[in-house]
Amino acid sequence: MEAAAAKAGINVVAICGSLRKGSYNRGLLRAATELCLESIQGLKIEYVEIAPLPMINTDLEVDGTYPPVVEAFRQKIRGADAVLFGCPEYNYSVTPALKNALDWASRPPNAWVDKPAAILSAAGSAGGARAQCHLRQIAIYQDLHFINKPEFLLNAFQPPAKFDSDGNLIDEAVKEQIKTVLLALQAFTLRLKGQC
Ligand SMILES: Cc1cc2nc3c(=O)[nH]c(=O)nc-3n(C[C@H](O)[C@H](O)[C@H](O)COP(=O)(O)O)c2cc1C
Repeated sequence: MEAAAAKAGINVVAICGSLRKGSYNRGLLRAATELCLESIQGLKIEYVEIAPLPMINTDLEVDGTYPPVVEAFRQKIRGADAVLFGCPEYNYSVTPALKNALDWASRPPNAWVDKPAAILSAAGSAGGARAQCHLRQIAIYQDLHFINKPEFLLNAFQPPAKFDSDGNLIDEAVKEQIKTVLLALQAFTLRLKGQC
């Protein structure tokens, strides 16, 4: 598997449902990016910001074209081999920012189609479980394919602290959990590509 992974060079786009500067979920994605650089051959993460996307409004679509910032985002998704979501939980669901990004990239031609994906969540006591269920439900219509296991659900507020004041992940055991998710995403992506 390792030789195939290295050869395949999987490009993962990471997007975060939280817009706040010190976001724990973005901290998880930063940690995932560092793990790939340090210890996962063949998996590269590019973080793509969703904050600049306008609120979805199909009046902004003119003759099948999208505003430049939307088109650039859609191209990033289309060009990715896989997607890694940082998925916070707002009122038992995904955040409006994440739903907005999901909706824009789902407009024709659907940019999510057949993308393998994985989810990392930092939230309250349920660790984002309810948001993840909603994300998986949304993904049915978009033909996104999530790995089912391992699940990654982190209670961000349970001591000891998991993040520093800038939202950087500081817990080594949690980093190991993230690594298992990344390896599962890598294996699943190669399977979908028919390369292992
Ligand atoms: C509007 C709002 C609703 C929230 N609802 C939930 C919730 O339903 N479940 C939960 O576990 N946390 C909830 N939280 C807390 C977030 O999980 C917490 O703020 C988390 O740190 C957000 O992710 P971030 O650090 O990446 O911004 C909510 C926060 C906000 C602002």
